[in-house]
Amino acid sequence: MKNELILILDFGGQYNQLIARRVRECNVYSEVVPYNISIEKIKEKNPKGIIFTGGPASVYGESSPKCAKGIFDLGIPILGICYGMQLMTHTLGGNVSKANTREYGATKVNIDNTSSLFQGFENTNAFLMSHTDFVSEIPNGFQTIASTEHCPNAAMENEEKNLYGIQFHPEVNLSVNGTQVIKNFLFHICHCSGDWQISSFVEDSIKTLKEKIGNKKALCALSGGVDSSVAAVLLSKAIGKNLTCIFVDHGLLRKNEGDEVEQIFREQFDINLIRVNAKDRFLGKLAGITDPEKKRKIIGEEFIRVFEEEAKKIGTIDFLVQGTIYPDVIESGLGKSSVIKSHHNVGGLPDYVDFKEIVEPLRDLFKDEVRQTGLELGIPENLVFRQPFPGPGLAIRIIGDITDDKLTILKEADSIFREEIANAGLHKSINQYFAVLTNLKSVGVMGDERTYDYTVALRAVETTDFMTGVWSKIPYEILEKVSSRIVNEVKHVNRVVYDITSKPPATIEWE
Ligand code: XMP
Repeated sequence: MKNELILILDFGGQYNQLIARRVRECNVYSEVVPYNISIEKIKEKNPKGIIFTGGPASVYGESSPKCAKGIFDLGIPILGICYGMQLMTHTLGGNVSKANTREYGATKVNIDNTSSLFQGFENTNAFLMSHTDFVSEIPNGFQTIASTEHCPNAAMENEEKNLYGIQFHPEVNLSVNGTQVIKNFLFHICHCSGDWQISSFVEDSIKTLKEKIGNKKALCALSGGVDSSVAAVLLSKAIGKNLTCIFVDHGLLRKNEGDEVEQIFREQFDINLIRVNAKDRFLGKLAGITDPEKKRKIIGEEFIRVFEEEAKKIGTIDFLVQGTIYPDVIESGLGKSSVIKSHHNVGGLPDYVDFKEIVEPLRDLFKDEVRQTGLELGIPENLVFRQPFPGPGLAIRIIGDITDDKLTILKEADSIFREEIANAGLHKSINQYFAVLTNLKSVGVMGDERTYDYTVALRAVETTDFMTGVWSKIPYEILEKVSSRIVNEVKHVNRVVYDITSKPPATIEWE
């Protein structure tokens, strides 16, 4: 599977994941590894090429990250980006200097388009520059292949040794045709063939998992989320009924969601599924609790307890399946075993189940590759493209204490909102949208009657990383329809408000 590999040495740059993504978009498999990876390890991995990422350090800093000596003599093509270029320069005898002013933003770069790196480019191109230090003197054997007004050596090459450096960031969208620079490196300099595809990943994974697990038993916690669903289906294709999935339904899922999950996995994929309907248990533990963090803690702990009880009934298992994905691996410190964020802890179950080994079939994939894998495996689109849903579920969308009645109100209101967003075709452009049941009651009038009922808040955000986001400008007519349907169709709601705060300062969830 991974016979054609590009290694990306991570020097701490903010765009390192993006570089890996761009390479994979060109159908070449890439892996992000720590900057100090040893020469032996590199040889073992046998990459077609190496990319150094940028990073915040200066090569003259005492603790600045340095790559293994000898990396430049391996005969493997290297592309150094920003700090990566400066490190290449510094190591090979050139000079890096501090500029008086920082060069930042899309910048006109003059290009020598006879270089393989710039094949197909005009004489100038706009690329994102973001640096203070710059290469003031290129090392012996190199020549300058690009410059800007403030940066005499914006790119350099040693064609004979296949070493290339660029001061700009081709991986970001602000760089015009940036991907073409990466493509040129991959195909004209590393001579990759570009045969990495999700379908071959799926085929190879099934084969590898079959060999690894054989007739042994595996257990998977299924939440109905994308990652655990894809991991479960992949495993089930590999080992069939030797996989058991436990789906703890805490009763805090959206309307009909529990049944939908069960139906897909039981009927469409014929997976050995244990569904535990534990709503009463969870609501019992949550009774009277109003503090959001307490709610999270209770749900997390109870989830583990229920899972543990079910797992014990099965007895010893050999493998525990986890839906860890590549960004988790990168974020948790490269190469180390994955840490499950406390935020996303439902589904992370290492300590208390009697198992011998963890399998993480998706640990090399980015989110959109996980989704492609899901489609390839035949998982329905609505599950594959499901918006993120927090582990503690509707518990953190009911402000204040949680009761069965409030759950019913919220499920109905939320379902109407989602239905209308889908009807309006907005479900692909809004990244997360849901209803919140506030604990505010207010006066209304229905017919000739005075009412004193709940306020439902609607929340919809557009974001790519969920760390920041803007509120979605849903057309008034759609909001009007949602509002009117909710107050007419959902008992005990007489007011609907729309949340027009971005993140920051607000968070996406209300709790
Ligand atoms: P916030 O509210 O922090 O949400 O802006 C960012 C993203 O994280 C999700 N979220 C959670 N996911 N357990 C989860 O699994 C949680 O406790 C939790 N809290 C927030 C939220 O839905 C959004 O996608």
